[in-house]
Amino acid sequence: MLSFQRLITINKQAETPVYLQIAHALIYHIRMGVLRRGIQLPASRELASLLGVNRNTVVAALDELQAQGWIVMKPRAGVFVADNLPEIKPQALSDNNTRYAAQTSFDLNTARMVPFPYIHKRGTSSYVLDDGLPDVRLAPMDALLREMRRLSNISAFSRHLSRGAAAGVQSLLDALTVYLNDTRGLHISPSQLMITRGAQMGIFLAAQLIIQPGDHVIVGEPGYHAANLTFQQAGGVLHPIPVDDQGLDVDAIEQLCKRIKVRLLYVVPHHHYPTSVMLSPERRMRLLELAAAYKFAVIEDDYDYDYHYLSSPVMPMASLDHSGSVIYIGTLNKTLAPAIRMGFMVAPSNLIDAAAGLRRVIDYQGDALMEGALATLFTDGAVTRHVNKVVRVYQERRDHFCSLLSSLDVSFKIPEGGMAVWTRFNNAPVAEVAAKAAKIGLHMSDGSLFNHNATRLGFASLDFEEQEAAIALLAKALS
Ligand SMILES: Cc1ncc(COP(=O)(O)O)c(C=O)c1O
Repeated sequence: MLSFQRLITINKQAETPVYLQIAHALIYHIRMGVLRRGIQLPASRELASLLGVNRNTVVAALDELQAQGWIVMKPRAGVFVADNLPEIKPQALSDNNTRYAAQTSFDLNTARMVPFPYIHKRGTSSYVLDDGLPDVRLAPMDALLREMRRLSNISAFSRHLSRGAAAGVQSLLDALTVYLNDTRGLHISPSQLMITRGAQMGIFLAAQLIIQPGDHVIVGEPGYHAANLTFQQAGGVLHPIPVDDQGLDVDAIEQLCKRIKVRLLYVVPHHHYPTSVMLSPERRMRLLELAAAYKFAVIEDDYDYDYHYLSSPVMPMASLDHSGSVIYIGTLNKTLAPAIRMGFMVAPSNLIDAAAGLRRVIDYQGDALMEGALATLFTDGAVTRHVNKVVRVYQERRDHFCSLLSSLDVSFKIPEGGMAVWTRFNNAPVAEVAAKAAKIGLHMSDGSLFNHNATRLGFASLDFEEQEAAIALLAKALS
């Protein structure tokens, strides 16, 4: 038996008239299915006495409901919820009909705000030349989801569904330690590893724990905007160092170290972002020597280690560092799919402990089920098989893309690794080309992040046909 006193609460002080409050409450419960189609409602006299209001108020509410088509009044039979309810239109979500304030009544701490550019705005474009993202259609989602389901049914795993360690689920820490030691020539133990949401979280945690306001931070020019913003947000003062076809100019770094106390250096030695060049072996060694001599920390971002086409990938600087200078950061978001949000940070244990503590204040822990499933995919070889497969696919895609690109009025070098071609526009401003391209259905970056009349054109996420269609549109935009 439904309790109408409980279903309908009346506030006689409210601005909304009582009869409308009753009508709105009844509509709400009809919509929610509590008052089902066709059921009889109490007569107006009974409802009035149940709600403690005048009978005329209830009559006015029922009239309103009948006018809107929510109920039918049948002579000598009573009041019924209509069998054919008025069409329930989804409410349009718009900023105009919100009652919640659009602006805070208090000031925000602008020093903490980050002007992060929104670069993945695809809009209605049919094709996207992205920043160098993997083809998510190739990601081993079936295996991952199957393993997540299996684990969720295993009682031994169920404790992981409760609160867990901020550094990650132990099975993944163990599996990834073995994998990194095998593939990257590292010699780490699980206590020197932390699972993060991605490379970006590793960069953020490390930056927060190293940089004090005013500290000097070396970055590449051109460089990775998101890392630069992270360092600035932590209070760092950026010192952009030129990047040539052998990577960061190490002589310029040494000169700078002689003048100022450098606290941190950020480097992407495997495939520099955005140009994809490799840091030469000599420069790697010199950088490590400089880090030890001048006692600065190195963040080695190896975000697309897996994708190397020329020969086998080059071992990270972290594999040569025994002095505790290098923090090695990587991600599975490029290996599998960007939305998986899973990465890692290798560092001396004291930094890992501090990073796990810092993580707690923003994100209590990671996704335990996903971490557990990934541990299995590492140990049963599924990740390695996936990487081997997609490296072949992406190499073919790189070659196809570069041959298409060579017919355009642009300059580029075929990258030895990564998922994008650093492309210079010879005779047209890249911003104008991107604007024209957007009008004809192709989204690409307008190069404003780089300031070199150049941009990254991602090839990995498009198959041959898609590449051909995208490059045909780019050719039109250039013409
Ligand atoms: C150079 C570089 N580092 C780090 C990241 C961040 O990776 P994640 O998505 O794992 O946070 C990216 C993303 O594109 C990148 O280009």
